[in-house]
This record gives sequence, structure tokens and C-alpha cells, in this order.
Amino acid sequence: MANLSSLLYIVFFVLCVITHYSSNAVTVYNVISFGAKANGIGDSTPAFINAWAAACASTGSTAIKVPKGRYLLGSLAFKGDCKSFDITFQIEGTLVAPADYGVLGKAKIWLSFEGVSHVTIVGGALDARGQSLWACKLAASNNCPTGATTLSFADSNNIRINGLLSRNSQMFHIVFSGCQNVHVEKVKIIAAGDSPNTDGIHVQLSSNVAITKSRIRTGDDCISIGPGTKDLWIERVECGPGHGISIGSLGKDTEELGVQNVTVKKAVFTGTQNGLRIKSWARPSNGFVQRVRFLGAVMNNVQNPILIDQNYCPHNNNCPTQVSGIKISDVIYRGIRGTSATQTAIKFDCSSKKPCTGIRLENVNLTCPDQVAQSSCTNAIGRTLGSIQPNGCL
Ligand SMILES: *[C@@H]1O[C@H](CO)[C@@H](O)[C@H](O)[C@H]1NC(C)=O
Ligand SMILES: *[C@@H]1O[C@H](CO)[C@@H](O)[C@H](O)[C@H]1NC(C)=O
Repeated sequence: MANLSSLLYIVFFVLCVITHYSSNAVTVYNVISFGAKANGIGDSTPAFINAWAAACASTGSTAIKVPKGRYLLGSLAFKGDCKSFDITFQIEGTLVAPADYGVLGKAKIWLSFEGVSHVTIVGGALDARGQSLWACKLAASNNCPTGATTLSFADSNNIRINGLLSRNSQMFHIVFSGCQNVHVEKVKIIAAGDSPNTDGIHVQLSSNVAITKSRIRTGDDCISIGPGTKDLWIERVECGPGHGISIGSLGKDTEELGVQNVTVKKAVFTGTQNGLRIKSWARPSNGFVQRVRFLGAVMNNVQNPILIDQNYCPHNNNCPTQVSGIKISDVIYRGIRGTSATQTAIKFDCSSKKPCTGIRLENVNLTCPDQVAQSSCTNAIGRTLGSIQPNGCL
């Protein structure tokens, strides 16, 4: 009797599992069947729009499949709300931008996701072909368009990006604005070290964003963190060339949301302009930076390994003689080691109006190959713990 009821129980359980999985079956939309051309020549923009529309309108789980090949895409927007409760882009191919930089250059964004939820991008490569626009800008021509962000998520939640490669963006590579619950993992970003404004990943007005196990080589910040960022986790990111991992620029506006609870763990910087940087304009602002944890970073020949710069005023425009209103507090640097390419390995240049408080250096060892490394502190209050090299000026 006991055996029969347990057998019935097992049968019932198996049936439940089967129904569960079959009701969760994924409907796959292949962009080829919507007319996409894998030859990199025919315009695949309408095909991608139509594949998205079909996936978005479908009930249940959906996937948009992009097989191997090159797909020419102009500027396009994938918009919510969707009926489908999750949409996965399975990309085996490369999405390429038009050769003429003017086409994307006037659009702000190449690939834009707006108001979506539970969207995942797995694999794939994005080639924005930004080189000719950089060349235009580097020639100091005034006739170059601003350029487009490669991939943008706005007002979206539960976003996953795994194993994507983004190459040669015109401007920023990946931007999250107004997003919640984002995980970017094993992403590769590649652009020339002298390419202008090609930030790797920019986060603003967003919470619960994680960026892990990624490799970023670019011409501007590897990761830049803007106003309104909360609960950001960055772990095992390799940066260089690039301008480092930066909180800022902040304080451009008088009314601005703060940045709180940012962790950067086990980052490796190689040949970068900065390592761990917090940067604000020398202008009045009600913004702030609170609770930052920089843990276990390695610096290889980094110009400014540890830097707080509250006197940012490019070209001395609209800010000379002004003072930053951004309040920076509770920032821990723990276990930061390696080499500085300049003598000043640690620099805290804080606001005279809102001095930095709660700055903590714990077991920091930064050396400079040809000279004795130094630290410099202005309006910075805090303490040191363990051994600090160069000796903390706090
Ligand atoms: C800080 O953010 C992390 C996620 O990045 C979260 O797990 C943690 O609870 C937050 N801590 C505080 C004090 O808000
Ligand atoms: C700091 O790093 C240098 C170079 O790697 C090393 O020789 C030195 O022993 C380290 N100092 C401490 C206190 O760990």
C-alpha cells in the first residue's frame, strides 16, 4: 500500500514536471525567417524590428535567434511593454553598423532597448565601425557628428548580458539609465586607446547593477558611474587601455541625485590613465557619493592609481574659482597594490566647501619604479589601517 502510494506520488510528480516544462517552452524567432541577410550587405534593420515585434507580442518565453554571419543594422529601438515574459537574444553572428559614420552619427543610439523587462542577450558581437568618426574627431574637425552609443537600455529591468563583444563604438559602448536588476557578465569591449569618448559601460539612475568577469580596453573610462547610481557591484573587471573605473563626472548640475553603495572588487588596471577615480566638477551641486568599497585591486603602471578629483573644470569653462558641492563620504580602499606610472600614487583633492570624510586606506602598497611614490591630500579626512605605502597623508 505504501509502495503503491509512493509510486502514484512519483508518477504525479513526473507529470507535474513535464507540464511545467512544456508550458515554459521557448518560442524561437529566427531573424533569417524575417528576411535578415547574413552577408553584411543587405539591410537587416526591418527584419530585426519584425522579429522583435513577434517575440514581444507572443505569450510565454521567447528567443530571437541570430545565426552566424554579419548583419547590417541601422539605428533601431526595441521597445516594451511586451506580452512575452522573457525575451532572449541568442546571437551567434555579428551586428555591424553602416560604413558611413554619418548614418549612426546623427542618431543618439545604435541599438536601443526602452521600457523592457526580462531581456537577455547571450553571445554575439557588435561592430559599430567607429574608427572613421574617431579620425574625424581627432583631426579636430568641427564638422563631425557626436556619434551614437552602441547599446543602450533605458527604463528597463531584469536585464542580463552574457558573453557579448562590443567593438569600436562611435561613443559609449553600453549604457544603462533608469534600470533595475542588471547583470553584465563575461563581456568584452574593445576600442583604440586614443578613441574619444568610447566609455566601456556607463551606469546612471540605476540600482542593483552587477558587472562581472569582463575585459574592457577603450579610449575613455572602462566603467563610468553617473548620478543616481545605487547598489552597483563590479567584480573581476580588467581595464586597460582606458581611463579607469570612475565615479563621475558628478556635479555638472546644481540639482543632482547622489551615488551610493558602489563596490569594486578585484579589478585589474593595466597602463590606464586612472585606476579607482572619483571625479566632480568644481561647481555647486547637491549631489553626493556615499559608501564606496574599493577592494583588492591590482595596478600595473597606472598614472593615477587612487584619485579623488573635485576640481574638474575642463578648458576652465564655467567653473574657475568655483568649488564642488559634491559631498564624498565613507570610501574604503582595501588591499590595493601594484605600480604607479607617476610619482603621486594617491591623490585626494577634495572640495574646500565639502571636505571628503570617512576615507579609509587599508593595506595599500603602490610603488613607483624610478622614484619614491608619494601621496597628496587636500581637504580629506579619514584614517589608515595596516601598512600603507606611500605613507597616507590622511
Ligand atoms: C550594497 O549593494 C549590494 C549589491 O551591490 C547589496 O548586496 C548590499 O546589500 C548593499 N548594501 C547596503 C548597505 O545597502
Ligand atoms: C610592496 O610591494 C613591493 C613591490 O611589489 C614589495 O617589494 C614590498 O615588499 C611590498 N611591501 C609590503 C609591505 O607588502
